[in-house]
Amino acid sequence: MDLQPKNFIKQLSFNTFIPYFYPFMMFPLKFWRRKAIGMMDFKKGDHVLIPGAGGGHDFAMLPDYVTVTGVDISDIMLGIARAKAEFMGLSKRVKLVHMDGENLRFADNSFDKAILGLFLTCVYDPKKAFAEVVRVVKPGGEILIYDHLVGRKKWATKLLSSMDTILKYNFCSFIREIDIIIEEQPVSIIKNIHGDPFGFVKGFLLCKDREYKEEVKPKGLFAKLYKHLLNII
Ligand SMILES: C[S@@+](CC[C@H](N)C(=O)[O-])C[C@H]1O[C@@H](n2cnc3c(N)ncnc32)[C@H](O)[C@@H]1O
Repeated sequence: MDLQPKNFIKQLSFNTFIPYFYPFMMFPLKFWRRKAIGMMDFKKGDHVLIPGAGGGHDFAMLPDYVTVTGVDISDIMLGIARAKAEFMGLSKRVKLVHMDGENLRFADNSFDKAILGLFLTCVYDPKKAFAEVVRVVKPGGEILIYDHLVGRKKWATKLLSSMDTILKYNFCSFIREIDIIIEEQPVSIIKNIHGDPFGFVKGFLLCKDREYKEEVKPKGLFAKLYKHLLNII
């Protein structure tokens, strides 16, 4: 097993006790995870990257016309994901590799899409890991973040910061901010939804290298008539 100093405790946790309780934590999120993945616009032949693939909770939610490459630093989690892929008859189109998500050994623009399920709160350096994902996703490609990232200056940050000091080294952080993680990258958030009934987990759909212009829908009869008039002219 290739243990890196910065990931030592985390790798140990994900290789020992976390795999026992992780599926129970993920079960209630199944419906919401599916909803978040449902925001993505999959095309036939898409190659999807799943960094921190874990136990492969996303596999069954993807259409059967895409191929998947999952990477993880935990051999045990990869083993569970591999067994799951085999059990579901997906092993031909799901490839699993032991790799550090902060140093992806893939060429630039190799993937059509990426799914980051509870990954950016788990990695040691989320900005580096996200930059790596953006690098390997093709321009115009979609990146789904399904995670408990907080917004800037949220009360939760203060409340959870003491607990976070311990948890971030062996499990995950609870005070990471989406704005800070994505700020230097050529991405825009094009959709977002609640990722659980309370909105603690959220789903963000991002697009690489594409400005998002929200269509402003006209409200009221006069505004609608005005829009039609503009179309005629
Ligand atoms: C909280 S689990 C999420 C698993 C899965 N994506 C999901 O949505 O259920 C995070 C996973 O990321 C893996 N991980 C943590 N740091 C990593 C890194 N630097 N590179 C690759 N995987 C990493 C852990 O081993 C673990 O399997």
